[in-house]
Amino acid sequence: MNTSTPSKTKTAFQNDVQDGLSSFPKYLYSKYIYDEKGDKLFQDIMALPEYYLTKCEFEIISEHTQEIAALFSENAASFDLIELGAGDGKKTKVLLKHLADENFNFVYKPIDISQNAIDLLTENLSSELPKVTVDAEKGEYFEVLERLQTFNKRKKVILLLGSNIGNLLHHRAIDFLTKLKDTMGEQDQLFIGFDQKKDPQTILDAYNDATGVTAAFNKNLLHRINTEMGGNFNVEKFKHWEVYDPESGTAKSYLVATEAMSVTIEALDLTVTFDAWETIHTEISQKYTDKVVAWLADSAGLTIETSFEDGKGYYKNYVFRRK
Ligand code: AVJ
Repeated sequence: MNTSTPSKTKTAFQNDVQDGLSSFPKYLYSKYIYDEKGDKLFQDIMALPEYYLTKCEFEIISEHTQEIAALFSENAASFDLIELGAGDGKKTKVLLKHLADENFNFVYKPIDISQNAIDLLTENLSSELPKVTVDAEKGEYFEVLERLQTFNKRKKVILLLGSNIGNLLHHRAIDFLTKLKDTMGEQDQLFIGFDQKKDPQTILDAYNDATGVTAAFNKNLLHRINTEMGGNFNVEKFKHWEVYDPESGTAKSYLVATEAMSVTIEALDLTVTFDAWETIHTEISQKYTDKVVAWLADSAGLTIETSFEDGKGYYKNYVFRRK
């Protein structure tokens, strides 16, 4: 007789947690950090003195607003501005304000994995920039890519800011860019941010801030498993650890178990054991050079039209087109 509880279909999050914590070495995907609390913690990260990325990209967009708007509206009476991973739209708002003030004909389509981020942004834009037509959507990049195919009626400009691409290893970044390219027509553009290699200490500090905001952000994964899956992680017994390899340009985040323990996750019917100092790999934040960006673009069938950088040369935004 079958006495086990009837199996319910698991969510993608549950399946990924099951797989990641049953693997050796253990891992969890960083995309699951972003619930309401995770979004808030990421906003706090963006405000940290150590987290230069947002400031640099904000500077680039602010200093080159006109030029960027001119590029986007090139050869087109109207266009769709599609932002993947819009978050709170702080940087994009500079551009949106300019486009609205100058009466450009466009629709802003922010896409984010977090419904909470989408709701906040839509509400905020309707009060701050009422002239902008906003058509927001919740979804993951890869899901949304398919839907983008149906957008081919007019010019598309795709925004991928924040060096969000840095969460992908190179081969997955090429995959992703190739799929993006497949949704693009001749005239379409991809405006994309790539954090650059720099003094390794600067990078390490950005992901290991003095006040522990990044640690709390990383640990939000364990909190989510506790609250959403009936997990009993003692979050205090995990330590946020960051490494940066200046050769590969890869920053990696870990949660390290400070003692041996065993954790149960009710919804998964799973017990996970940790040895003392065992790791859970949670995130990569890749850093780039022009050469690597050119190689990624070329491998994906894209070409670099132009690029912009901040005053310190910490960060770059590139404009890609189909080859
Ligand atoms: C939003 C993925 C670009 O990797 O820099 C910030 C996330 N992680 N601090 C990044 C993050 C730790 C961020 N991205």
